[in-house]
Amino acid sequence: MYIKQIFINKKDFLDLLLLADEEEKMIDKYIDNSDMFLLFDNDLIGSIVIHKINEKTYEIKNLAIYKKYQNKGYGKSLINLVFNNHYKKCERIIVGTGDSPLTLPFYEKCGFKIYDKIDNFFLDNYNKPIYENGVLLKDMIYLEKYIRRNI
Ligand SMILES: CC(C)(COP(=O)(O)OP(=O)(O)OC[C@H]1O[C@@H](n2cnc3c(N)ncnc32)[C@H](O)[C@@H]1OP(=O)(O)O)[C@@H](O)C(=O)NCCC(=O)NCCS
Repeated sequence: MYIKQIFINKKDFLDLLLLADEEEKMIDKYIDNSDMFLLFDNDLIGSIVIHKINEKTYEIKNLAIYKKYQNKGYGKSLINLVFNNHYKKCERIIVGTGDSPLTLPFYEKCGFKIYDKIDNFFLDNYNKPIYENGVLLKDMIYLEKYIRRNI
């Protein structure tokens, strides 16, 4: 398993990006000023997009694993691989996600804890309603994870 950073033509992987963020205009807001990495394990497995907030804090803007490779540990491994290898000074990772049974438990399993919420974010910022597992997404839930570095 290995990761590869993509510097140009990030939207060649729009199919992956749209798995995690259904509206292209929302992706356009962060894709150019964020880092993108692909995960390979023989095949292309998934991708992650990370935005620097400051020296110590980074935000996961988009994380997607192809459907056929989900629930095999790749999502969790991708987060760990990227932050262990590319963001050695990072002490805090944040991520915003819908109040969804498909994503919140995943991030909690990865060690993230809820710390904030933006009411009606999805209703106010997306052109059409977003449903996940039959649930209408309304609020943006923010989670954070502190990384302990063994120096
Ligand atoms: C969300 C997503 C990235 C998770 O990646 P994944 O590779 O399927 O997840 P993993 O197999 O690494 O799961 C890690 C842990 O979370 C748990 N988990 C994952 N999804 C879960 C769910 N819906 N409910 C409960 N637990 C879940 C796994 O059981 C595993 O637990 P373990 O560490 O105890 O074994 C992936 O499903 C995906 O790409 N979904 C579509 C795009 C998306 O919604 N992206 C997130 C928005 S930014």
